[in-house]
Amino acid sequence: MAADTKLFSPIKIRGITIPNRIVLSPLCMYSANHGMASDWQFAHLSTFARGKTGLIFAEATAVEARGRITPGCLGIWTDEQADALKPITSFIDRMGCIPAMQLAHAGRKAGTKTPWNGGTPLDDEDRKAGNPSWDIIAPSDIPVAEGWVIPKAMDSNDISEIIQAFADAAARAIKAGFKVIEIHSAHGYLLHSFLSPLANKRNDEYGGDIHGRMKLLIQVVDAVRKVIPEDTPLFCRISAVDGLENGWEIDDSVVLAKKLKEHGVDVVDCSAGGISGAPLFRSNKDGKPMKTNMDRGPGFQVPYSDKVKNEADIKTMAVGVIVDPNQAEEILQSSKADLIAVGRELMYNPFWSLHAAQALNADPEFSMWPEQYKWGVNRRGKLAEFKGVRDGT
Ligand SMILES: Cc1cc2nc3c(=O)[nH]c(=O)nc-3n(C[C@H](O)[C@H](O)[C@H](O)COP(=O)(O)O)c2cc1C
Repeated sequence: MAADTKLFSPIKIRGITIPNRIVLSPLCMYSANHGMASDWQFAHLSTFARGKTGLIFAEATAVEARGRITPGCLGIWTDEQADALKPITSFIDRMGCIPAMQLAHAGRKAGTKTPWNGGTPLDDEDRKAGNPSWDIIAPSDIPVAEGWVIPKAMDSNDISEIIQAFADAAARAIKAGFKVIEIHSAHGYLLHSFLSPLANKRNDEYGGDIHGRMKLLIQVVDAVRKVIPEDTPLFCRISAVDGLENGWEIDDSVVLAKKLKEHGVDVVDCSAGGISGAPLFRSNKDGKPMKTNMDRGPGFQVPYSDKVKNEADIKTMAVGVIVDPNQAEEILQSSKADLIAVGRELMYNPFWSLHAAQALNADPEFSMWPEQYKWGVNRRGKLAEFKGVRDGT
């Protein structure tokens, strides 16, 4: 008999029922053509749908061309770009999983090389290769690190344009078939950089105290909530802490989460870091890793999810080195999160969800598996009885 687990129990948020609690964390692929999804995005995301990951996030998708991290980042600032995503949402849907869109603007971290080419700002070499840099915008004219482009401090027109760009992108994402929308306000990108006192030195209504620094994000949330259907869940990814002295702290995140809830956000996705130095998982220009006071061990960001969930009374998603099914189950059982996002472990094993169900005995009959695989995989146990096939004895 199947074990009763939390990880494989469905969750209903507004009008959407997610079949299990496992989420493909958004993963930039740097493989789009002028913001248009390529066959890579289809192959990549459909794999996790075959692997029955409950909620499948497309990568950070730029709401305007300036908001791409690299020239190869996915975008949704045109209808054509949205149309190119339809086969992906339709396949995810057909597999019984939920397609989700992460709307993003890279802010002062825009205009870089791919991580496998160093992740540093685009330079002459890129321009000669047909990839010139572009105007970089941010709350203040403070570069993300030494040697990076000095961004333009946004004026009130830029701010209005950005709010509109998020709303237009959200409407396009809904038309493209996405059932969940997430606003990316983490990892040092535009909206996070408005929140953090390390990047936002404005002295107008969008800066100053926490309420001023939260203002742009809240206006974006309102604009997005207005154009998406009432029954569409809205998530917001935050960096729960900057992990740097005088930066954004966990108590700020609780204040923000309460406000997000009031404005119609359903789930706070609790990541961390990225405000200065190079982007996550990269080393900065002189090759030194980004310095934060965060220890990046198993489940290192779960305490942020726990605190936000329980103090702001809002659903949360935990993420960060969650690699083991029992670890994921324990996080849910102890009410530290409502959803479990997995990034690198799912790239390592795109069928992690199906394998986790086996490990927790939640699917002894392989009933979660796609029809096309189920009947064959069901007989696989017998193959394993032929001792010698596997171990060569
Ligand atoms: C290749 C790669 C691409 C990523 N792209 C994004 C992204 O588009 N948006 C985002 O919010 N986080 C992004 N992240 C962070 C992941 O979503 C996730 O939060 C992080 O990898 C920690 O989870 P993990 O330990 O399960 O990998 C990326 C991480 C990796 C490794």
